[in-house]
Amino acid sequence: MNNPHLHLRIETTKKSRIKELDTEPIPFGKIFSDHMLVANYSQGNWQDVQIIPYGPIDLSPATSALHYGQAIFEGMKAYKNSNGEPLLFRPDANHQRINQSAERLCMPAIPESIFIDGLKELIKLDDDWIPNKNGSVLYIRPIYFAVDESVGLKPSDSYKFIIISCPVGAYYSHPVKLIVTEKYVRAFEGGTGAAKVAGNYAASLIADREAKEKGYDNVIWLDGIHRRYIEECGTMNLAFVIDGVVVTPKLTGTILAGITRDSVLTLCRDWGIPVEERAIAIDEIVQAYHQGTLTEAFGMGTAATIAHISTIGYQGEDMILPPVSDRKVANQVFQKLEEIKTGRTEDIHNWICRP
Ligand code: COI
Repeated sequence: MNNPHLHLRIETTKKSRIKELDTEPIPFGKIFSDHMLVANYSQGNWQDVQIIPYGPIDLSPATSALHYGQAIFEGMKAYKNSNGEPLLFRPDANHQRINQSAERLCMPAIPESIFIDGLKELIKLDDDWIPNKNGSVLYIRPIYFAVDESVGLKPSDSYKFIIISCPVGAYYSHPVKLIVTEKYVRAFEGGTGAAKVAGNYAASLIADREAKEKGYDNVIWLDGIHRRYIEECGTMNLAFVIDGVVVTPKLTGTILAGITRDSVLTLCRDWGIPVEERAIAIDEIVQAYHQGTLTEAFGMGTAATIAHISTIGYQGEDMILPPVSDRKVANQVFQKLEEIKTGRTEDIHNWICRP
């Protein structure tokens, strides 16, 4: 940490846009709250940390992130408890993860005083933007990117860190249909699969588009070497319930270490539900499906929360999974996580942070 006691300048908006929130349903990620946090890094120091009205930023066309993709981000959410007080879910885990992504892309670490303390101030200022409608919350998007005005390929000397937020409804409004892609690969060992780098998401778009053309919502990625072991979905981690055991791909460095994933596994272990983090071959899923032991499949992510998977397409066959009402594990973890995030149950793991 360079300077743990940063001065935060706050300039509030003269005209709130909160009326834009009067839309139903709230679209995902299109309406932004009144303020944003902006911090600059240059000459080895963090400086100019400020909360200002949300709006465009000035960037040179030579901004290095636009050329070489030295750009990372995070996703988290703010909730309200029954007294209308704002609550954040595990922001410390997002702070840790953005710094791991930063290290992978040769970017300096973001101090806690900016990421956590700045975030808390921002959420306090925009807490009216946390929707109190069922299923809607404030999605928080920290972004961090290189801003050297240079087209030489090297780690930038200057960076910008910004936090914006947007009220959101459900990312997936229905149980999702996923198709296993054998054509594209998301990550290899030694690559950037475990980091939340912007380029991972850009590279996934073509597979996503082809999946949508075939009537699916997204893809299931397989490992790059054997083209056999399940990785993740790109928008979320994946879990399967086979014979009563929650099985999820192990974190081997090629998939994102999801905070929702970790929370789900922790809750399952608390409840004595067997959990296995290991390699899962797609043939194992096909076999379990045909034997009737694959009772649930679901995605886990900040935006997606717990997303039931209705169908898995693989090599021309659609595996249609049991009705959502029969999904014991996914429904139970979804319920419990919602209760924790909105302060309706005891927070035994200290996941809740009050701004
Ligand atoms: C999140 O879940 O926060 C993400 O960043 C995934 C993104 C595709 C919305």
